[in-house]
Amino acid sequence: MATQQNKSLWWQQGIIYQIYPRSFQDSNGDGTGDLRGILSRLDHLKELGIDAIWVSPIYPSPMADFGYDIADYRGIHELFGTMDDFDELLRETHKRGMKLLLDLVPNHTSDQHPWFLESRSSRDNPKRDWYLWYDGKEGGEPPNNWVSVFGGSSWEWDEATQQFYYHAFLKSQPDLNWRNSEVEQAVFEAMRFWLDKGVDGFRVDAMWLMIKDKQLRDNPPNPDFKPGMNEDQRQLPIYSSDRPEVHKVVKKMREVLDQYPERMMIGEIYLAVDKAVKYHGKDNQGVHLAFNNQLFFLPWEAKPLAEAIDKYEKLLKPGDWPNWVLGNHDQSRIGSRVGLEQARVAAMLLLTLRGTPTIYYGEEIGMRDVPIPKEEFQDPQGINLGKSRDPGRTPMQWDDSDKAGFTTGKPWLRIAEDFPRVNVKKQQEEPSSMLALHQRLIRLRRQEPALHEGDYKTIQADEQVFAFLRKAKGHPSFLIVLNMGHKTAVFKPETIKLKGTVAVATIPERDGIQVDGVLNLAGDEGLLIRLD
Ligand code: GLC
Repeated sequence: MATQQNKSLWWQQGIIYQIYPRSFQDSNGDGTGDLRGILSRLDHLKELGIDAIWVSPIYPSPMADFGYDIADYRGIHELFGTMDDFDELLRETHKRGMKLLLDLVPNHTSDQHPWFLESRSSRDNPKRDWYLWYDGKEGGEPPNNWVSVFGGSSWEWDEATQQFYYHAFLKSQPDLNWRNSEVEQAVFEAMRFWLDKGVDGFRVDAMWLMIKDKQLRDNPPNPDFKPGMNEDQRQLPIYSSDRPEVHKVVKKMREVLDQYPERMMIGEIYLAVDKAVKYHGKDNQGVHLAFNNQLFFLPWEAKPLAEAIDKYEKLLKPGDWPNWVLGNHDQSRIGSRVGLEQARVAAMLLLTLRGTPTIYYGEEIGMRDVPIPKEEFQDPQGINLGKSRDPGRTPMQWDDSDKAGFTTGKPWLRIAEDFPRVNVKKQQEEPSSMLALHQRLIRLRRQEPALHEGDYKTIQADEQVFAFLRKAKGHPSFLIVLNMGHKTAVFKPETIKLKGTVAVATIPERDGIQVDGVLNLAGDEGLLIRLD
């Protein structure tokens, strides 16, 4: 529902920025980013104007899935630094008026987590039931047909105890049993550990997978499977994901957060939008934000985009808050998906839609995917399935010095070749840069109630042009007009009076122009117009 809230909270008004810590800034020359590196770049984030940082996992981990395989929920991996470094990062982030969100991975641990080591040690270990152990079918077959996101059966045979355990991802990432109340309490304790320190909340990994069918029913085949799709899409994961009981778990997590003021959680939920919004919970007792991943997958065209936005707006219940995101560490970067010209249009869209935007590090300077040769693949998904996520995880491009200012050592992933041109330092000096565009859009969004909390309305979506209105009672209204094609276009709305001044343009020469009745748009042009 496109309603305004009486009082909007920081995570509603604000902008989130995702840091992939291995790739943001190295401080000790080992070629991998770390906490002191992030600390040294906080001023960049402050100047950019973001409100909260979400840091991908920094916990002790064998790094089979680069930290998404946690061996201790309450520690810091030595690669990233120490707990003192973390405390300092938190303090300094808060000092600058920003919030810090951690990545919580409750669906699974590393197989090196002491809980799993105990659990697999014998069938009668007290932690046996903390994970999903089952007998196989006759003939040594796994308990059912479920498949892992990273390829192959999601069941791993344990020779020593003669049972299978379940893993939605790698076999070194065994899934926890969220029907076990001790598991619940142990993870909630870990949440409290960080919340007590002052962490502002969590991005919760793989939330829709946390509960699986108790009867372990086989998943049916996916009639829409096409070659080229991920292996796990061969079946419809109706029994291994999004089970109704998951909402009870989410509600309990929310209760943990609600014991602290103004904390929040965002759920990673890769589901159709009608299912994803359910994670907001009954009476808003679920996640604060259910990650809305639609822009990763929608065709980059005005009509489908407008339809998806309208549908999403309608699906939200009173009190649910929308959010938008263009990219993350699992996806190809927006600059590569839609091209650099349209990436500017995309930035304008992200920062003017209704709902909390999340920026993925490097988007603000137009970083693109970096081709990584097979022999340099780091990502297990790349190694197992050939679909590497490495291209979207390359080091941040800070300046044109050797190694782009990211490290003095050998970077863990190769750096984009365009870094001498595409880097923060250079863009800070260029008024027409992607960085400057981001800063201006963010500044205006922060200032204007219509943009950070106002209503949304689609005005037009045709073959090329997408236009929408943002409006808040008693404040200036804004019209956003995006040319999603490369050709010029004419915009002449019939349902609203087009009269105003361009406040931000993707093509800087168009800033400040007066608009009256009709608008001639250049190809790939986006305009944010303050209406009279
Ligand atoms: C989430 C993360 C992804 C990771 C997976 C397993 O989808 O975003 O990077 O590989 O969970 O933890």
